[in-house]
Amino acid sequence: MIKAFKIKKAACMLLLVFFVIVKTAASGFAQSSVKTSMKHLIDRNLHSAVDQYLVLAKKIPSDSLARGYDPARQKNIYSGASWWCSGFYPGALLLLYEATNNQELKKEAVKKLTVIKNQMYNTSDHDLGFKMNCSFGNAYRIFKDTAYKNILIVSANSLATRYKPTIKSIKSWDFNTAFKCPVIIDNMMNLELLEWAGHNGGGERLKEIAINHANTTLKNHFRPDYSSYHVVDYDLNTGLPMRKATWQGVNDSSAWARGQAWGLYGFTMMYRETKNPVYLNQAKSIAKFILNNPNLPVDLIPYWDFNAPDIPNALKDASAAAVISSALLELAQYTQLPEKRAYIKAAETILRSLSSNTYQAAPGTNGGFILKHSVGAFPMHEEVDVSLSYADYYYIEALTRYKKWYL
Ligand code: GLY
Repeated sequence: MIKAFKIKKAACMLLLVFFVIVKTAASGFAQSSVKTSMKHLIDRNLHSAVDQYLVLAKKIPSDSLARGYDPARQKNIYSGASWWCSGFYPGALLLLYEATNNQELKKEAVKKLTVIKNQMYNTSDHDLGFKMNCSFGNAYRIFKDTAYKNILIVSANSLATRYKPTIKSIKSWDFNTAFKCPVIIDNMMNLELLEWAGHNGGGERLKEIAINHANTTLKNHFRPDYSSYHVVDYDLNTGLPMRKATWQGVNDSSAWARGQAWGLYGFTMMYRETKNPVYLNQAKSIAKFILNNPNLPVDLIPYWDFNAPDIPNALKDASAAAVISSALLELAQYTQLPEKRAYIKAAETILRSLSSNTYQAAPGTNGGFILKHSVGAFPMHEEVDVSLSYADYYYIEALTRYKKWYL
């Protein structure tokens, strides 16, 4: 009798334990399937970004800038000031300092500004906008130090020396002998420096150059579906396009993902600066091409080229996604419902994807870089499936933009 009672009791206990395990598992699943709020996601990611960049700051040589991390070699990649990405590391440090008040990152940023300062005189690089606007542009916005303002104006004038009146554009590369006078879609991003300087004492001509460049790009870089060619090569005598081609994409008629991202960001920024509705419409049309593209995966992280032949096995490009999310958040500022909501939602999906373990490095790993899985220049086998400073920069910018505008 007692024995039967004990067996029954043990069976009841087992049942209870089983019930608790099932319930815990079920509630655990329920919890993890509930979405983290954007406020929580952004705060958590900004703070983990600070921790990562403190790791990075400890590794980096004093005269270098952070360029990326190569997981295949388990090595950080650094650069000197002349590399087109030299402004992103100080820029990211400044954005993180602004968001969290971390004094160590501020100190590191100010130190790195001195490393790239002399780039203000560089007239052989169209990427002076990336370099100086992302670094000194943020520094001036935050600290209001007039020395930074002067550096920005000198930089804008250096960039303006690359303007070619016959084609009404800034020449992109000098190094690339495959082209006569190449203008790349990426160059839209450098116009922000000219616009800023034009509005801040640098003279009307700088604004005119930016507007002319944007108008020429609008005329010659886009296809009827609003995807863009990477490179338009011009005849400097006639001012006409000679060839439309790619350098970093799959082929001349493909839509290289980061190129589409630069176009989206660039025309959104030009609308902010000029209020010309033509630029706003262009940005909306580019957004439509990207967001309605049948080759855009559900996590909204694009393959490195929308026409990569091995989709769905092609590599994705986190850097393009980061730029797109930041651009969409700004585009939403200038649009009405229901488009506004769609842009914010898409940017939110990208930020959630980039914040997942797939793209975000575990704390203390990845050489201190935040995002994994970017593609620099696939056809050249350069920086393929690595971490890149500009992916981190635009990811941080998007997080801070979301926080400022939508929380
Ligand atoms: N501007 C160069 C790149 O996007 O790779």
